[in-house]
Amino acid sequence: MHVPAETAKAAIEAAKNMNAGCTIAVGGGSTIGLAKAIALDTGKPILAVPTTYAGSEMTPIWGITEAGVKTTGRDLKVLPRTVIYDPELLVTLPDFITGPSGMNAIAHCVEALYAENANPITSMMAEEGIRAIGRSLEEAVKQQENIAARSDTLGAWLAGASLGAVGMALHHKLCHTLGGSFNLPHAEVHTIIIPYVTAYNTLAAPDAIGRVAKALGVESSADAASALFDLNIAIGAKMTLSELGMTEEDLDKAADIATRNPYYNPQPVTRESIRRLLDDAFHGRRPTVD
Ligand SMILES: NC(=O)c1ccc[n+]([C@@H]2O[C@H](COP(=O)([O-])OP(=O)(O)OC[C@H]3O[C@@H](n4cnc5c(N)ncnc54)[C@H](O)[C@@H]3O)[C@@H](O)[C@H]2O)c1
Repeated sequence: MHVPAETAKAAIEAAKNMNAGCTIAVGGGSTIGLAKAIALDTGKPILAVPTTYAGSEMTPIWGITEAGVKTTGRDLKVLPRTVIYDPELLVTLPDFITGPSGMNAIAHCVEALYAENANPITSMMAEEGIRAIGRSLEEAVKQQENIAARSDTLGAWLAGASLGAVGMALHHKLCHTLGGSFNLPHAEVHTIIIPYVTAYNTLAAPDAIGRVAKALGVESSADAASALFDLNIAIGAKMTLSELGMTEEDLDKAADIATRNPYYNPQPVTRESIRRLLDDAFHGRRPTVD
């Protein structure tokens, strides 16, 4: 998982030695991330064929991990020039990767809806992304080879496009901290955290979270976080940070790191509130809006 610096270095050398005209990346976010590392260094264009729902193929964001620290940045050079989606390539994606990967895409859409620089087009795309993935993810998990469900879940391109177009907030910051500093798996962390951050932001961003609710087919913004929690149950996802190997002692450190530098979020971020959110996610309590 991710793009280890030494792998990136070897791939860059190989691409230069063979005087490659472009990179063809067939795989998930890690594979596409490796092509991005080559593009960042050499400027070689990327043709991406994504086989998960991570959405990296639609963003100019790169990430490289060295000595346990993940550095990320934005550069238009790494944005794939051509993207080919084929639902048949996803029928081999196992249920335990399909579910969290779909929730990772939904999380991009949720944060895009209340992004500081959201606009009517990205919001429309993000809402539709949640609708498409929300109605088909359980089916794709339970019937891996169901092409209609796989096709619908590729609404994930809307998620990737939203992620690439606007800035993210608390959810992505928190997941980056948990993944990077505690070596937790990327998509699973997103899956567990997104219902809690949605609850956290519900009162401060009622219109955006109202659109999340509408896309998931529930009545009001107050029900959105619970609907995401229920979707996690339906896809058989891991529901607690403790299942991912985090310890209760890690929570204080995680809250410290995630609140060290200020960043935009609809609901102001305080150490105490993030520590409480992490405690709920550690134990897998149903999220509440208050
Ligand atoms: N730059 C961005 O905009 C962006 C966006 C999202 C994720 N990411 C990065 O992408 C990485 C995570 O990507 P991911 O969640 O797609 O996981 P991944 O690419 O690490 O893939 C997860 C697993 O699924 C397997 N797999 C992938 N497609 C398969 C298929 N069709 N059939 C069977 N197995 C398959 C892979 O071999 C791997 O074992 C992280 O490093 C994350 O930071 C970057």
